[in-house]
Amino acid sequence: MGYNDDIKMLIDAQDLTLPPPEREPQRQYYFIKKCREIVKKKSEELGRPLYACSVCMGCQMNARDSEKLSGILVQVGYTLTESEEDADLVLYNTCTVRDNANQRVYGRLGYLNSLKKKNPHLRIILCGCMMQEASVIEKIRRSYRFVDLIFGTHNIFKFAQLLCTMYENQEMIVDIWQETDQIVEELPVQRKYAYKSGINIMFGCNNFCSYCIVPYVRGRERSREPKEILREIERLVEDGVVEIMLLGQNVNSYGKNLEEPITFAALLREVEKIEGLKRIRFMTSHPKDLSDELIEVMRDSRKICRHLHLPVQAGSDRILQAMNRRYTKEQYLSLVQKIKTAIPDIAITTDIIVGFPGETLPDVEETIDVVKKVQYDNAFTFIYSKRTGTPAASMEDQVPEEVVREGFDKLLKVVQDTARERAALLQGKVMEALVEEVNEQDPSLMTGRLSNNMLVHFPASESMIGKLVNVSLDTCHGFYYTGHIVD
Ligand code: SAH
Ligand code: SF4
Ligand code: F3S
Repeated sequence: MGYNDDIKMLIDAQDLTLPPPEREPQRQYYFIKKCREIVKKKSEELGRPLYACSVCMGCQMNARDSEKLSGILVQVGYTLTESEEDADLVLYNTCTVRDNANQRVYGRLGYLNSLKKKNPHLRIILCGCMMQEASVIEKIRRSYRFVDLIFGTHNIFKFAQLLCTMYENQEMIVDIWQETDQIVEELPVQRKYAYKSGINIMFGCNNFCSYCIVPYVRGRERSREPKEILREIERLVEDGVVEIMLLGQNVNSYGKNLEEPITFAALLREVEKIEGLKRIRFMTSHPKDLSDELIEVMRDSRKICRHLHLPVQAGSDRILQAMNRRYTKEQYLSLVQKIKTAIPDIAITTDIIVGFPGETLPDVEETIDVVKKVQYDNAFTFIYSKRTGTPAASMEDQVPEEVVREGFDKLLKVVQDTARERAALLQGKVMEALVEEVNEQDPSLMTGRLSNNMLVHFPASESMIGKLVNVSLDTCHGFYYTGHIVD
């Protein structure tokens, strides 16, 4: 019996002749059962199953939320589909970290409106980070009145209840919370992959980097209890998961606000003990909070992957300070040195922003210098996007587009050259890969992920998905390898 089967039993046991329970998650079980009846009736009317298209537009945390939302949709009776055209319900879980994320949502809403004109029964639901912004809600109420339901990041556990309200009403339902300290466990989850899973260990962020909207849309930092996290992982492993990714905006400050405080490193030690679990990843580490204890635990672990995502954002001390990152270039570089000395085979990746207010080309040179010194295995480079309400949005000296472009292009070239050089170093080596999926271009190949997060393509059968195999990295193609399985 899997996790969802256990929950299904609890849902089945609800008595709809009684009023809904006050306690969570029982209250949501009740509403799931209630929604089921509505969906079933509709489906009988139409003589076909009802389809739902659930789209995640954001980061890993957003993706995990989408798995929970899809879990509820499935329990309620929807069949999931990838295509909006076939859907009776479309759910967008939005991101607002950069403005282009928002623009994408508005674009797609225009398209959904045309679908809804053809199929008036289509239900359109928006949730996630972008919905936590008052200006967005205003705009949707004004210009996108065909949307049926909107909720935010703090009340996703209430999805079943909101669905019920939506079915029972014709007008747009908007339910946005500003904050919550509630963490509701034990809701259904529809996992995207059978063999790997993300797990929230904490929610929210307290860092307030001056460019970033996440603390405003995700609220204050809250950690889950270690026993809840361990129990969830144990159950995932029973369900066949071999790799987990512990998720939080800043995992290094995990556990500080718990009644019985515990460090992230200590949590990792406990996770390592779970039998049957093969690989552990985590995201994201803020450099200012990365402890010696964590480096030690990573060094001594057999399960923690040889990959650390350590966002630097910028290389100039002046810009780092204006960003409120709370480390200097030298501090960052010496931290990297310490990590590389302790764990020589570690792959380090990063996030970089170009064009923060006041950033000059010599500042970008400082960033390039960091890239050269650290030798990142990969780096995600972003053009600064002004987020209303953040301190950086009202800073003077917003950088002209051409200057940003010039710095960005120069940086990107160094990032790519460095990554290629790093990748080439492993050509010819044999490394362990987790077989993840059929290669998109060539179905005779499978794609595997190395501990260092690089991908390798090799001949194998689909039945190998979810297994760990040793692969010879025969040829490096810049950002991935081709190879073959060795015994
Ligand atoms: N909590 C994570 C990152 C979350 S957002 C961390 O601190 O590392 C992911 C990345 O988006 C950030 O690392 C940053 O590089 C980028 N980002 C955040 N706000 C941005 C903005 N306003 N403009 C451009 N990039 C931004
Ligand atoms: Fe944003 Fe900084 Fe928090 Fe990351 S640590 S989510 S960049 S405020
Ligand atoms: Fe993630 Fe985007 Fe929200 S990066 S936390 S989905 S704003």
